[in-house]
Order: sequence, then structure tokens, then C-alpha cells
Amino acid sequence: MKIVLFGKDGQLGQAIQSIALPEDVTLIAFGRDTANFEQPQSLRKIIADIKPDIIINAAAYTQVDKAEEEYDLAHMINAVAPSVLAEEASKIGAWLIHYSTDYVFDGKKQGAYTETDTPAPLSAYGRTKRDGDEAISQHHDKYIIFRTCWCYSQYGQNFAKTMLNLAQTREQLKIVSDQIGAPTNALLIAKITEQMIDKISKNSIAAGIYNLSASGHVSWYDYAKTLIQTARDEGLPITVKDDGLIPVLAKDYGAKAIRPHNSRLDTSKLSTALGIDLPNWKEDVISFTKNFCKTQKEKNGLSS
Ligand SMILES: NC(=O)c1ccc[n+]([C@@H]2O[C@H](COP(=O)([O-])OP(=O)(O)OC[C@H]3O[C@@H](n4cnc5c(N)ncnc54)[C@H](OP(=O)(O)O)[C@@H]3O)[C@@H](O)[C@H]2O)c1
Repeated sequence: MKIVLFGKDGQLGQAIQSIALPEDVTLIAFGRDTANFEQPQSLRKIIADIKPDIIINAAAYTQVDKAEEEYDLAHMINAVAPSVLAEEASKIGAWLIHYSTDYVFDGKKQGAYTETDTPAPLSAYGRTKRDGDEAISQHHDKYIIFRTCWCYSQYGQNFAKTMLNLAQTREQLKIVSDQIGAPTNALLIAKITEQMIDKISKNSIAAGIYNLSASGHVSWYDYAKTLIQTARDEGLPITVKDDGLIPVLAKDYGAKAIRPHNSRLDTSKLSTALGIDLPNWKEDVISFTKNFCKTQKEKNGLSS
């Protein structure tokens, strides 16, 4: 089986490459240098030449605030390019696995969002991602869209790493306290992607959108508290004072893009389809933080 991966250098792309795939799978991975989503038409030849069985698209324009000023570029990468991938996948009968976001919703729902809830994005980024999801379902019928949220990992830039780094230089940090979601490790998304590949190869999965996040939910503020308290317990030289974590409302934080207050995703469709229970966000975040601290202490030459 041949799999083409786009976005190999992002946090999810790297997580996917770190997962051991079955021996009969050949993974051909592309980054921005060899497959530029700013020129979507150039993707057609790559797919036509390789004729993969599955295309995994982990490439995306993910700078949520900057997208407010770079809408056209974000739309090209997040909507036009995935649309081209769907068209080409359809021509050769390949499956397309793509990743969407909680930011397609306005966050006004009471309770967790399901796959059938209607997107109503608040931000330019959210609109481009919604348009990508819609284009895929219009052009192809063999697709899996994983709708995920609050992704972090050892790779690239993300909230968890930013907090753990800032907590070692600042005495005070202001964190948004009125938005909730489930921090989700890119490695979890990668493992579920692998299970989905297995289902696809056995022809035993229905195409469509599947919500994919860790279970439970938390605010950004309490998430940061968990990260920093765990790091403190692990002996990382934390400079944030005991009363130095300051909760702020999103409206007072001043981010350019508006984000949903409620990013909770109902994952029961995925759990049933794969026969799995998704792990609680807190266990994964604590385990990630312990590893982060171990690596950091090794780098700094401190004994663990
Ligand atoms: N991060 C989150 O919290 C989150 C939440 C929900 C959903 N998602 C979705 O999950 C997916 C993966 O996100 P991620 O966290 O792995 O993002 P990421 O770390 O920002 O990775 C995105 C990748 O896309 C590549 N890319 C950007 N512009 C490109 C272009 N013009 N041509 C080719 N490649 C380009 C980037 O290349 P470079 O490395 O060269 O910059 C990067 O490798 C995305 O679909 C995202 O919307 C993410």
C-alpha cells in the first residue's frame, strides 16, 4: 500500500512519521519545499504520478491570528489545495485523510459538538478550514476528516511548549480562562490515523467526519496550571510565582482572531467506529510534561 503524506514537517506530520506503519506500507512524505500548497495545481502531478492508495493531508495554514490579514493565502492552503487533493483522489480512487478544527464552530452550543452540527466559524482561519471540509465532501466520497482541537506535541510550536518555556523566564503569565476544550496530543491523532488506515485497508469504515480529541475538557487557564504545576513537581526551574498565573477573559486578552468559548467535541462516533476509549486530556498532558522536563533537564546537564 502506498501512502502520500503532505505537511511532513508540521507537528502532526512529524507525529505521523514517528508511528510504525505496517511493513507493506510505503510512506512518501512531502514538505513545503516539494509540494507547495500555495500552488495547488502542482499537487495534481504528484498524485497522478505516485497513484497512492491513501493521501494524508497534514499541511495547513495554522497561524490563526495572522489569517485575519492573510485570508487569501490561508484560503488557498486550507481550502483550494484540499479541494484539488479531493479531485485527484477521486480520479484514482484513493482515500483522503484530512484534519479539521474546532474553530469551524462558534462555541455557543451547550455541550459537546457532534459531526452533524453546522459550522459557524468566528475567524478567518475557521472559515478557510470549513471551506476545505466542504470542498472535500463535494469532490470525493472516500474521505475521512478528523476534526480535532487544542493540539500539542513535542514537535513544533504549541501552547503547551510555549507555557513551559515562558514559565522558566517570567514571573507572571496571563491566560484565557473562559474558553474550554480538550488538549490533544498529536501522537494520539497519529495513532488514531494509523488505526483508520487499517480500517480503510480492510474496507470496514464509513467515509465522513470524525471528531478526534482527548476526553474531558478544561480551560486554557487550568490547562496552563496543570502544565506548570507538573513541571514544578518535576523540578524544572519555574520562575512563575505561586500567584503569578492570572486568569483573563478572552475579550480582554486582545487576540486578533475570535475563538470559540466552547471547543468540546463529542467523540462517540469515532469511539464506536474504532472500538476505543479516548484517553483523558490530563493523563496525556502530565505524561507529556514529565517527558518535556526530563529532556530539558538532560539538555541543561541537570540530573533527573
Ligand atoms: N494545532 C492545533 O491546535 C490544531 C487544532 C485543530 C486542528 N488542527 C489541524 O491539524 C492539522 C495539522 O496541524 P499542525 O498542528 O500539525 O500544524 P503545523 O504544525 O502548523 O503544521 C502545518 C504544516 O503545514 C505546512 N504548510 C503550511 N503552508 C504550506 C504550504 N504553502 N505548502 C505546503 N505545506 C505548508 C507547514 O510547513 P512548514 O513546516 O514548512 O511551515 C507545516 O509543516 C491542520 O489541518 C490543522 O488545521 C490543528
